[in-house]
Amino acid sequence: MKKIEWDKSLATGIKSIDYEHKMLIERLNAVIESIDKNQGEGTIAKTLDFMLDYTNFHFSNEEKFISSHGYPGLEYQQQQHREFKDSLNKIILDFQQDGAGKDIALQIKDFLFIWLKKHIMEVDHELAQYVKE
Ligand SMILES: [Fe+2]
Repeated sequence: MKKIEWDKSLATGIKSIDYEHKMLIERLNAVIESIDKNQGEGTIAKTLDFMLDYTNFHFSNEEKFISSHGYPGLEYQQQQHREFKDSLNKIILDFQQDGAGKDIALQIKDFLFIWLKKHIMEVDHELAQYVKE
């Protein structure tokens, strides 16, 4: 399965946020890769855990960043972040119940990544715009 990639359209210009978005995409790729290579349930579970940990880490950093800049869109960001975390938790639950199938890799690629891209391009870009002004 092809790797998902960070590209310039995702750049917000805020260094720490861009860096974390890249790391998050790497974590998504790590899960996809461990499923592709049939690395076994234990390894896949670990990569899913890393992905969940990093997601929580990044979203909480982003929310702190928003608060510290007095940006008015905090609540909407929190709601969006919750939505992503819910989807991720659902994927992990599916994995725990049914094991790792191609559909989990596909859900990450076709759902989580597409969602993230849209979120970054719309919501995070607006935040970056606000901070720059
Ligand atoms: Fe965000």
